[in-house]
Amino acid sequence: MAVLGSVLIDGLAVNPEHAAISVFDIGFQRGYGCFEAMRSYDGSIFRLEAHLDRLELSAAKLRLPIPDCDSIAMWCRSTAETAGESVVRVFISGGTDARMPGTNSRVVVFAEAVRPGSSTMTIQVRTAPWHTDGDWFELTGAKALSYGFNLAASVAAQSDGFDDALLVGRSGHVLEGPTFSIGWISDGVFHTPGLEIGILESITRTAVIEVAGRLGMTIMEGLYEIDDVMSADEIFAMSTVREVLSIVQVDDRLLRAGIGTRNLQDGFTALVAEELHR
Ligand SMILES: Cc1ncc(COP(=O)(O)O)c(C=O)c1O
Repeated sequence: MAVLGSVLIDGLAVNPEHAAISVFDIGFQRGYGCFEAMRSYDGSIFRLEAHLDRLELSAAKLRLPIPDCDSIAMWCRSTAETAGESVVRVFISGGTDARMPGTNSRVVVFAEAVRPGSSTMTIQVRTAPWHTDGDWFELTGAKALSYGFNLAASVAAQSDGFDDALLVGRSGHVLEGPTFSIGWISDGVFHTPGLEIGILESITRTAVIEVAGRLGMTIMEGLYEIDDVMSADEIFAMSTVREVLSIVQVDDRLLRAGIGTRNLQDGFTALVAEELHR
């Protein structure tokens, strides 16, 4: 991973080679904690407040102490300013006492170089039996550190020759990618699974829905089956890191990157420029 500049641990700058937290931290031992990934465009973070709101929500759901979001915002801004074009990551560890989460918890902030990725991606449909598939529970909506199952789905899809996975719940509902939201266009209508299915409230997804509205598209959010995706005209991934990325293969179905996705990409770029006064 190409870290740009220092790693901030509770605001103190540390050389990336020496950046470390305790092996007794339940973030390491049990994946207890929460995190965010934000995009810095030329040193300014897109929708920083929305990311910090989600971080605070995640911490509250995990019953961690309320994070000091003013300090975290300051660390994120200074990290982004130094790194420029980058992905700024924030982690709040669970701390060193499993009976009292938050004890000696650490806040880690650093920037990573934006990886020059492909302009398209391929995905493999994989069942996610660990996902609640619409049943609410107290961690629904939290961006908690325990991403092992999602990562394992990506790794499995990659070993089958795809770029990533598309997760489908055990009742057959289309959910999201392991680290992205999914959307598609069918007969000119914008479709994306609704938040009620228990997917992450993606900041990019929200922004792209705004863009689709500006473009005058009809927007449908709801419960979908995999056949709805398979019969779509265009399919795309949405995330902070990927922005809006055309999906050109789902299992053995091949698609082309289309004009609808192109318009959403252009609209998203324009929205970022508008909000960050670029
Ligand atoms: C499971 C999942 N869904 C969707 C997303 C996209 O969210 P955002 O647009 O806020 O980056 C992510 C991002 O990491 C994710 O992990």
